[in-house]
Amino acid sequence: MRIGRIAGLALIGLFVSGRVASVHAQAQTESNPAPTQANQSASGDSVQGQKYFEQAGCGWCHAEAGHAAGKGPKLEGSERTDSFITFRIKHGKEGAMPAFGGTFNDKQIADILAYIRSLRG
Ligand code: HEC
Repeated sequence: MRIGRIAGLALIGLFVSGRVASVHAQAQTESNPAPTQANQSASGDSVQGQKYFEQAGCGWCHAEAGHAAGKGPKLEGSERTDSFITFRIKHGKEGAMPAFGGTFNDKQIADILAYIRSLRG
């Protein structure tokens, strides 16, 4: 499975860049807490979430940016609860999906959740 190996390497690269982005985002939160707080309401920021989705390579498995099924299920219109989706992104699923809890903090995962919800319709 040559392609699988190449895709794996690409994913590792993406994870590393995702980690750098997450450190960067953290620094921003610390240096400028007030405005970030204002944007941080319950729903998360779907525009940021889309960036994280692309950076992390979610689209390798959740095809067409989450609009269609691929190796993973279609995310658009998901009937899963917010807490299920948050849990799955954080912890992944053994043998199916990598965990992203080390790549993204809770705020970033909330943004990804907002992005997934925005796929509706
Ligand atoms: C290597 C492939 C792969 C990658 C990369 C991947 N996923 Fe998944 N994902 C899966 C698979 C497979 C499942 C189904 C797991 C199961 O059996 O319940 C899944 C399930 C999910 C679910 C739950 C959907 C449902 O209906 O059960 C969400 C939400 C999700 N992924 C989001 C993401 C996000 C966000 C990213 C990127 C940060 C991501 N995934 C990256 C393969 C992947």
